[in-house]
Amino acid sequence: MFLSAPPKPQNNLPRDLFKAISELKKELNAVVLAHYYQDSDIQDIADYIGDSLGLSQQASSTDADVIVFAGVHFMAETAKILNPHKLVLLPDLDAGCSLADSCPPAEFKAFKEAHPGHIVVSYVNCTAEIKAMSDIICTSSNAVKIVKQIPEDQPIIFAPDQNLGRYVMEQTGRDLVLWQGSCMVHETFSEKKIVQLQVENPEAEVIAHPECESSVLRHASYIGSTTALLKYSQNSDIKDFIVATEPGIIHQMEKAAPNKHFIPAPPINNCACNECPHMRLNTLEKLYLAMKNKTPEITLPEDIRVAAFEPIQRMLEMS
Ligand code: 13P
Ligand code: SF4
Repeated sequence: MFLSAPPKPQNNLPRDLFKAISELKKELNAVVLAHYYQDSDIQDIADYIGDSLGLSQQASSTDADVIVFAGVHFMAETAKILNPHKLVLLPDLDAGCSLADSCPPAEFKAFKEAHPGHIVVSYVNCTAEIKAMSDIICTSSNAVKIVKQIPEDQPIIFAPDQNLGRYVMEQTGRDLVLWQGSCMVHETFSEKKIVQLQVENPEAEVIAHPECESSVLRHASYIGSTTALLKYSQNSDIKDFIVATEPGIIHQMEKAAPNKHFIPAPPINNCACNECPHMRLNTLEKLYLAMKNKTPEITLPEDIRVAAFEPIQRMLEMS
């Protein structure tokens, strides 16, 4: 029995966040775009869930007034570059990316100057400043296709992910000058534990994101972007998969193929470091508050935005 009134919900958050977010979507004419590495509840409230390419394509074609980007900073920034007059919200402005951070603009400028005559193909996981110094942007789903379209005698710098760069070199036979960046999540998978899992699950196939190191990729039956991995697992006759990418994707894999079994590839240490700490900074509560308060907003200096627009547009045309 209560002697006084029952406590009020903390932070004045509505009890039903799903309903409150749906109402705000209508009120703001907003679209919620979410990456597969987001928490499951965020994926469930999103209007579109996709890989980096799909999200950029959605951002370039949406007629919503407000884009709520449930992903990391470089993804929301790409949406803003494509939509300078729209309000682009990121639930947590600190949701960065270790790969983007591994390519500081001043060092990259010097690297570019040390390689005259090279064109720059940059993976979308980089800051707007790096995009502005690039000729073409790519994602994990179109990197091979884009490099294949560049004349064979044209030298290329590929930045910032060395693992994706090496994979593209293998697939295209091209000699790329690689910036030595990498993703802290995709470098954490343990080859030894993956092999152990294969021994314990002999029917299972390893599927992997090309940001993984070559020691992991060599065990994979299929390598692709998050969307490609999802489609492959759905369409394959195989029933068991060891998934070497951030395990947020498994939510959609299980939804699409409920009778299949998905095992997250384990990290080297006994930690949850195969989960992206940046992506996971976003929560449903923060997403609601961002929409309610129309902040935090992505803003960019106009000269950087204009310079970064061209290489992204080139990618969308070449994809
Ligand atoms: P995708 O292009 O597959 O979405 O990959 C994005 C990413 O950040 C992988 O770490
Ligand atoms: Fe960046 Fe890696 Fe997180 Fe992807 S998984 S957002 S590359 S830190």
